[in-house]
Amino acid sequence: MNLPADFLFGAATSAYQIEGAVTADGRLPSIWDDFCKVPGAVAGGDTGDVTCDHYHRWREDIALMRRLGLDAYRFSVAWPRVVPRGAGQVNGPGLDFYDRLVDALLEAGIRPFVTLYHWDLPSALQEQGGWPSRDTAGHFADYAAVVAARLGDRVTDWTTINEPLCTAWIGHLEGRFAPGLRDLHQAVHASHHLLLAHGLGAAAVRAHAASPPSIGLVNNLSPIVAASDRAEDVQAATRADGHINRWWLDPTHGRGYPADMIEVYGVEPPVRESDLETIAAPVEYTGLNYYFRQVIADDPDGPAPYARQVPVPGAQTTAMGWEVHADGLADLLLRLGGEYAATRIYVTESGSAWDDKVGADGSIDDQDRIAYLEDHLAAVARAAAAGAPVKGYFAWSLLDNFEWADGLDKRFGLVHVDRATQDRTVKASGHRYAEIIRAHHTPGGAP
Ligand code: IFM
Repeated sequence: MNLPADFLFGAATSAYQIEGAVTADGRLPSIWDDFCKVPGAVAGGDTGDVTCDHYHRWREDIALMRRLGLDAYRFSVAWPRVVPRGAGQVNGPGLDFYDRLVDALLEAGIRPFVTLYHWDLPSALQEQGGWPSRDTAGHFADYAAVVAARLGDRVTDWTTINEPLCTAWIGHLEGRFAPGLRDLHQAVHASHHLLLAHGLGAAAVRAHAASPPSIGLVNNLSPIVAASDRAEDVQAATRADGHINRWWLDPTHGRGYPADMIEVYGVEPPVRESDLETIAAPVEYTGLNYYFRQVIADDPDGPAPYARQVPVPGAQTTAMGWEVHADGLADLLLRLGGEYAATRIYVTESGSAWDDKVGADGSIDDQDRIAYLEDHLAAVARAAAAGAPVKGYFAWSLLDNFEWADGLDKRFGLVHVDRATQDRTVKASGHRYAEIIRAHHTPGGAP
């Protein structure tokens, strides 16, 4: 694996997925606390109430990161801990938690990558209209300023919004994620306000962080392939590419919203004067979360964009039912470096869920996850060799955590978490990752 010498190997998590302690120290509910209470919304009726109890076990978790030899750790700050009502009063104890976490990471020699929004909108803001309301973007910028003012003397690496697609399309159009809406008009409005929040939030971090920040937006993208060469499928693939990739990449690269998609949706994003400049203001890096490619067929009766993902016969799929296709990661890295002229890319998430079995001796021999990890790192190395400016890889995830609507059963961790005891066990994949990292940092070392 030929990766640049300064390449960062990390792991990623998010607040609601690992912290638990949802009522501790002044935290108020988020839309995910509420969504988990909706009957049938989350598999098994699971919630993030406890999940990995990281809020209390963070020291142990940093020790695990150290054991893995991570260069960097990407985590998110919970808005409902820091500004529990979304706007207004700041909750000191909530902010203190992240302050301690950052200090301990730095002490362990691990670079903190802070995500400001990973889906846990304070419920009070949802009551005032949520992301379809423009005010939410302004409140996000105020919250970003608070976090940057407190952590920005030690944190350099910031993500504004994680996967706006999921909040806008899955949360407001498909109804599978919080807040559980199925409304194209609201979804398009939410999408614009999420991108506006990115732009305003980035400016707020620049204005309030004491150290010069490196800021990016993180998108989950998929390479799109038409299911056949029928004109209907080829056109559906173009629409799917617009919905999944171009809708997010074009406005942040100064190209505005794709006109073909505005026509497909029949809804204009609520752009006001200077919004597009705010959204396209230059940032330091491009964040890419990659899980699967999408093979697309025409679906005239389905929801926008009237395109349906179809299964690939014979493909290996993970426990999520997602096709394993490492080449797709290389394709996206090259597209970002080429078509979008990215100069610094981090793979901010990449990973897989499998039905892990705990052996009689307590070990977890997750060979499928190892193969996935190695193949995706090899794809990163291929893309780097072909000129993609990729500078880091964050495995999703450090721990088995709360996988949103799929609940607690879908395990993505390099580290197994026993749900009854909270015991952590490094899986074979975690050991393999540690070996790869060690070899990368050893002159002449080969993984
Ligand atoms: O668990 C999620 C994460 O929160 C966002 N990206 C995809 C992961 C796997 O579904």
